[in-house]
Amino acid sequence: MMLLDIADLSRRFSSGGRDVAALSDVSLTLAPGETLGLAGASGSGKSTLARILLRLIPADGGTIHFEGKDWLTLSGAELRRRRAKMQMVFQDILGAFNPRATVASVLDDPLRIHEIVPKAERPGEIAALLERVGLPASYATRSIREVSGGQRQRIAIARAIATRPSLIVLDEAVSALDVSIRGKILELLVELQQERGIAYLFVSHDLAVLRAVSHRIAVMQAGRLVEIGTASQVIENPQSSAARALIAAVPRLVTGLPERHYYDV
Ligand SMILES: Nc1ncnc2c1ncn2[C@@H]1O[C@H](COP(=O)(O)OP(=O)(O)OP(=O)(O)O)[C@@H](O)[C@H]1O
Ligand SMILES: [Mg+2]
Repeated sequence: MMLLDIADLSRRFSSGGRDVAALSDVSLTLAPGETLGLAGASGSGKSTLARILLRLIPADGGTIHFEGKDWLTLSGAELRRRRAKMQMVFQDILGAFNPRATVASVLDDPLRIHEIVPKAERPGEIAALLERVGLPASYATRSIREVSGGQRQRIAIARAIATRPSLIVLDEAVSALDVSIRGKILELLVELQQERGIAYLFVSHDLAVLRAVSHRIAVMQAGRLVEIGTASQVIENPQSSAARALIAAVPRLVTGLPERHYYDV
C-alpha cells in the first residue's frame, strides 16, 4: 500500500485582483520509507502542496490518502491522533516559536500533546532526541535563539521525529544553511530514514540537494507536475524544459558528479 496518494489536487489564490492557479490537478504517490524530491522554480506551487498536505490551508479540489485514510476529511480526535504520523521541518523554526522558548519546551510539546511517553519519562526522551540529532543533552536548557542555524535545524528534526512519524514534509529545510553544515544535516536525515523507515517529501528548488537525498524527483512548473522519475532519470535525461532549467542552474550537476554523495552538495 502507498503511504501517501495525492490525486488531482488543486488550489487557486486571488490577491490584488489577480487569480493564480497555485496548484493544478497534481497527482503523486509516496511509498513507505521513500524520499520524493519536489523541485521547481520559485512560485511553481511546491509550498502550496506542502501546506495543503499538512492541512495548514485547504485544497479547492482533489484527494489525499495518508496511511489509507481520506486525509482531507479527517477531523477531531482522529485527525489529532493521526497528525503525529505526519511531521514537518521548515526553513527556520525561529519564526514559529516564542524566541524565549527553550529547546526543552520545543521538544516537550509534541511529546505531551501526542502522549508519546509518560510525563516522568519526557526529560529522558528529550535528552535522547537531542543526542540522536547530534546535540548534547545539556542544550535542553538553552533558548532557541541561543543556538546556531544548523543546530536549530537539528532541533527541528528532533521535534519532527519525536512523534514517530511515517512521513516528514521538509520545505527548504537546508536552504538557509552553509554548504558544509547542509551536507551534515542531509546525512543525518538519510541515517534517520534508514533507521526508522520514515518517508520524506523533500521540497527544494536546488537539484543538487535533491540528488543527494531523493529516490525519485518530481518537477513542478506553474502549479503543474511536469515530470516525475527516478533521481538519475530526471537529472541525466530530463524530459521537461522546467527540469532542464533547474539542472542548468546548478553547474556541479552538469559536470556529472556521482549521485548520493552527501558531501558534494
Ligand atoms: N496566500 C497566498 N495568497 C496569494 N497567492 C499565493 C499565496 N500563497 C501562494 N501564492 C501564490 O501561489 C503560487 C505558488 O506559490 P508557492 O509558495 O507554492 O511556490 P513555491 O514553489 O513554494 O515557491 P518558492 O520556491 O519561492 O518557495 C505563487 O504564484 C504564489 O504567489
Ligand atoms: Mg516555497
